[in-house]
Amino acid sequence: MHRRTVLKGALAAGLLPTLPRLATANPLTLTAAPGEAPLVVPDGPATKAWLYNGTAPGPVIRARQGDTLNITVQNDLPEPTTVHWHGLRVPVSQDGMPYLSQDPIAPGASFDYELPLHDAGTFWYHPHVNSSEQVGRGLHGLLIVEEPPEIAARLQADREITWALDDWRLDQQAQIAPFGNRHDQSHGGRTGNVLTVNGTYLTTTALRSGERLRLRICNTSNAQHFHLNFAPFDPWLIALDGHPVTPQKLGDSGVWLGAGQRADLILDVDTAPGTTAQVIDDAYGPDRAFEVMTWEVSDESPLRDAALDPPEALPPNPVAQPDLANAETHKLTFDGGAMGGMSEAMMEGRMLSMQELVEAGRFWSINGTVPTHLHETEPLLKLALGKTHRITLENRTRWPHPIHLHGHSFHFTDPRAGNIATIRDTALLMPDETTEIALVADNPGTWMLHCHILEHQASGMMGVVEVA
Ligand code: C2O
Ligand code: CU
Repeated sequence: MHRRTVLKGALAAGLLPTLPRLATANPLTLTAAPGEAPLVVPDGPATKAWLYNGTAPGPVIRARQGDTLNITVQNDLPEPTTVHWHGLRVPVSQDGMPYLSQDPIAPGASFDYELPLHDAGTFWYHPHVNSSEQVGRGLHGLLIVEEPPEIAARLQADREITWALDDWRLDQQAQIAPFGNRHDQSHGGRTGNVLTVNGTYLTTTALRSGERLRLRICNTSNAQHFHLNFAPFDPWLIALDGHPVTPQKLGDSGVWLGAGQRADLILDVDTAPGTTAQVIDDAYGPDRAFEVMTWEVSDESPLRDAALDPPEALPPNPVAQPDLANAETHKLTFDGGAMGGMSEAMMEGRMLSMQELVEAGRFWSINGTVPTHLHETEPLLKLALGKTHRITLENRTRWPHPIHLHGHSFHFTDPRAGNIATIRDTALLMPDETTEIALVADNPGTWMLHCHILEHQASGMMGVVEVA
């Protein structure tokens, strides 16, 4: 069976529009608790999931650049948790890394986060304890930091749409399949069989001919990466991982989104009234392509006659510009996984054979080491505070890895397709790919660096970077 159509025949009746819930309160309480989510059909079977404030995904949190967000996280789960604010450059004490930056929030307890919002853009939040399972059960949501209104107005968008793309592994009763699968850990991670947009399967979005949309897309899935194509529309890419890029038409190149990554687009609805179109993902090849979303352009007359001017570039966020000529250089090498060449790695000060590693549930290493307890582990890199650092990332595995660094956003020194001159917090490294990033280490602390395929993270592809 096609991996994406397992539930399609039985459940295709459940076409719903997608209406993400919004939270603009500040202070805000985010309660993580078990509950039910109507993922696949409106009238059940509901999926038993873990929810923020009663929904999966949790509410879209919206705030303004320059503000400080105060969020109390209440843990009503049966196990400890934390929340990480993916992409926000916050002080280390607010970053949600268990043991490294805070004790996990025990069941029944709460933690108050205070988040200064330096950067505008599309970000997201998710737990950082037992992440594969907690995120995989539905705990995640978007966090939008808005530019000042006069700047956003330059885009001339008539409205804004946010999409949390999620990939669930459900059984035939629409219940979440068990976690901890070693095949997932050693291969491509926990990919699923039901794709939801804002928590709903097989969605449609109503459009009006002539309108301009601002579309914010986040890949919240555990492992899946997407390559989205928007034909017959030809949107402009305006930001990646929250950071503005010079607006450019996607053309035939589509947009790649590794797990954890975001893209902001401007889409002009330049088709006639009464037409339909699909957003297609073909990340795993044309014969495994599938529909992410159906657009339905209403019969209404076009909103405007003449096309709008191209969107203006948004101003850059205040990310320090690396001084490449005076940089310290470093390297991170990623090894392991099925069909990989890893034969041994250091774990807890001992060199273990591949077989011993497999027995310990560890399939990946960074610079030849596999951590157990991150807060006790030697840093992979020690970055001098205030200096520019160039870091080569070498993927020596047969698998793609979206590599995420906490606390900093980084530049690519060698822009290429998919990583065009841009600032990001997650780098999607393709198999056997080597690239270089650069950053000014300006946020002191001990920060996690890990693969955002959460099953890879859990089985060894993580470490810490010390900035001091
Ligand atoms: Cu989005 Cu360390 O995570
Ligand atoms: Cu990985």
